[in-house]
Amino acid sequence: CKSVPDVGIDAIALSVPRGYVELSELAEARGVPPSKYLSGLGMRRMAIAAPDEDPVTLAVNAARRLFERSGASPAEIGLCIVGTETAVDHSKPVTAFVHGLLDLPSTCRIFEAKHACFGGTAGLLSAVDWIASGSARGRAALVVCTDIARYPLRSAGEPTQGAGAVALLVREKPRLLSLDVGQTGTFARDVHDFWRPLHHKEALVDGHYSVQCYLDALEGAYDAWRRLDGATDEPLVRTCYHVPYGKMARKAHRHRRMIDGLTEEVADASFVVEVEPSLDLPSRIGNVYTGSLYLALASLLNTQARELAGRRIGLFSYGSGCCAEFFAGRTNPEAAELVTRLQIDGPLRDCQRLTVAEYERLRAEDAVADSRPAPTRAAEGTVNEGGRAVYLGVDS
Ligand code: HMG
Repeated sequence: CKSVPDVGIDAIALSVPRGYVELSELAEARGVPPSKYLSGLGMRRMAIAAPDEDPVTLAVNAARRLFERSGASPAEIGLCIVGTETAVDHSKPVTAFVHGLLDLPSTCRIFEAKHACFGGTAGLLSAVDWIASGSARGRAALVVCTDIARYPLRSAGEPTQGAGAVALLVREKPRLLSLDVGQTGTFARDVHDFWRPLHHKEALVDGHYSVQCYLDALEGAYDAWRRLDGATDEPLVRTCYHVPYGKMARKAHRHRRMIDGLTEEVADASFVVEVEPSLDLPSRIGNVYTGSLYLALASLLNTQARELAGRRIGLFSYGSGCCAEFFAGRTNPEAAELVTRLQIDGPLRDCQRLTVAEYERLRAEDAVADSRPAPTRAAEGTVNEGGRAVYLGVDS
C-alpha cells in the first residue's frame, strides 16, 4: 500500500499592530460591566491597526519574521498563498505584494484565498496537498493569514475586533506539526451569518445566528471527520478551534465533547486541559479572522510544545458563509526547541496601550484612508523603517 507523506507546519510567526485597547477600558466607555467582555466573551484586549498597518504590511512582517527565526530561505518557496478577507484590491492579490516584498522566486505559484475566516485553512490544506501530490518537487510553501477585524463602533461585535497576521511554513518532515494528510472532515452550507459587502470596511453580522451556524458547522465537520478510517483510534489530547472570541471556543468544545458522549459537566471540565492553553494569544489580540485558528495553535505550542511531543491534537476551522473543516496532527519532538527560537509571542512585547479616545481617532482616520488619491507608479512601493516593512498603497 502507498505510504502517506509526512507533511505539515514546519514553523509559525506572527505580526500584530502596534496598538491595542484594554477591553476593561472599552467596557467602561461603553457603559457595560467589564465582566461581560472579560468572562462573558473571554477576551482581554483587542489589537487595533493604524492606517499604515494594512493587511499587506501585517503579512510581510509575519513572513519576514518567519524566515528570520526559522532559518528557512525565501528561495525554497514554490507556492505562496495569502488567506484574507481584508483584501486591498478586487483583482491584484495581497500575495503579489508579499511575493515582491519578500523577493520570492519567480517560479513560485501565488494566489489569494478568500472564504471569510476559512481562507487561511483553504490555503494551508491546498499547500499540504500540493506537497503530498509531489508537485512541490522538494520545495516548501508559505501560507500567510492576514486580516483586520472591524465592526461598527458601539455594536455588539466591537469587543470582538482584532488584527494581525500568522505566517506558516509548510513542508515535508515538518518540525512543529505533522498533519494527517487527506484526513479532513468538511462541512459547507450557504448561510448569511456574517458578510462584508464590497467597499464596507466594517463587517455586518447576525451575531447570535453566527454562533449557531458555527456550532452546526462544527457538528457537520466533526461528524464527517469521525467517520474517516482510523480518525478516532488515538485520542486528541488538545483541540484548537477558530476563536472569534474565547467563549466561542468554550461553547464549541462543550458541543464537540458532548457529541463524543460526555455530559455537559465533564465536557466543561475537560476545557481547562484540552483548550485553555490555546486561548492566551487570541485573548490578547482578538479575532484575526483567517489566522485565528493558527493563532490558537501558536498559543498552544508556545506554552506546551515540550509536553505535547508525539501527541495528537485536533484543529477546527470555521469561515462564515460557510465552510468548516476538522482535521488533526501530531506535534513533533523537535517542536519545543524550535519554539524557543521562534519566540512566537515576541511581537506582542512592543505593543502599546491605546486609550479609547485614541482608538476612536484611529478608526476615524482609517475610515478615509482608502479615499485618498490613487497611487502613481512612482509613489507605489515600500520603505523600510527600522526593519519594518511599510507598504505604501496610496500616494501620501
Ligand atoms: P452580545 O449580544 O452583546 O452578547 O454579543 P450576549 O448578550 O450574547 O452576551 C455574551 C455572553 O456574555 C453571554 O454568555 C452572556 O451571558 C455573558 P453566553 O450565554 O454566550 O455563555 N454576559 C456576562 N458575563 C459576565 N458578566 C456580565 C455579563 N453580561 C453578559 N455582566 C456576540 C455577543 C458574540 C453575538 C457579538 O459579540 C458579535 O456579534 N460578535 C461578532 C460575531 C461573532 O464573533 N460570531 C462568532 C461565530 S461566527 C465566526 O466565528 C466567524 C467570524 O470569525 C467571521 C468569519 O468567518 O470571517 C466572525
